[in-house]
Amino acid sequence: MKFFIDTADVREIKDLAATGMVDGVTTNPSLVAKTGRNFLDVVAEICEIVDGPVSAEVTATDFETMLTEGRKLAKLADNVAVKVPLTWDGLKTCKTLSDDGVLVNVTLCFSPAQALLAAKAGAAFISPFVGRLDDVATDGMALIAEIRQIYDNYEALTTEILVASVRHPRHVVDSAKMGADVVTVPPSVLRALINHPLTDKGLAAFLADWAKTGQSIL
Ligand code: E4P
Repeated sequence: MKFFIDTADVREIKDLAATGMVDGVTTNPSLVAKTGRNFLDVVAEICEIVDGPVSAEVTATDFETMLTEGRKLAKLADNVAVKVPLTWDGLKTCKTLSDDGVLVNVTLCFSPAQALLAAKAGAAFISPFVGRLDDVATDGMALIAEIRQIYDNYEALTTEILVASVRHPRHVVDSAKMGADVVTVPPSVLRALINHPLTDKGLAAFLADWAKTGQSIL
């Protein structure tokens, strides 16, 4: 399963890319707004740091303007994935850009029916938002299981399931168990994946015992 980082913060991306765990990046207009920086500059900079797909979202809502925006974003770098919302205009944009060989990430997916439409429109990625479903007392991970089942039924549906709106390590583990292709995680969740109190306790004990030996490896 690939790990994408869900942030537009270039410093965080550089820091985490050094761990070798970052296979791509997702951004959205809210994450870009948080940086206070120029959108096109940020995307271009991220694309230089990370080799994998970098999602950059269109902000128009009609097909013609979305397509123009998408084409402009795709020109920023070879690894840009144009992100479009799950609307009919978004799907039309997805189909046109995908036919032109551009990677498209269809975002704001909240149902299996929507995921099926995105796959038929040629999306490279579908982004189901599990955390936002959990927020409204609906099982977000159940959606991932349903989409996995649907896509696995048809060889022609090659869209990758990109689990989004991830809130905690359990979402990541469950995504892997269900065979999701990608999870996009906030930096804090990626960092939290390594935590285990028994690792900390075990290391402290080993170091204390080692100190008693008075030895040094070097
Ligand atoms: C996905 O691409 C979105 O940027 C993101 O995962 C949304 O997460 P949120 O629900 O925490 O805003």
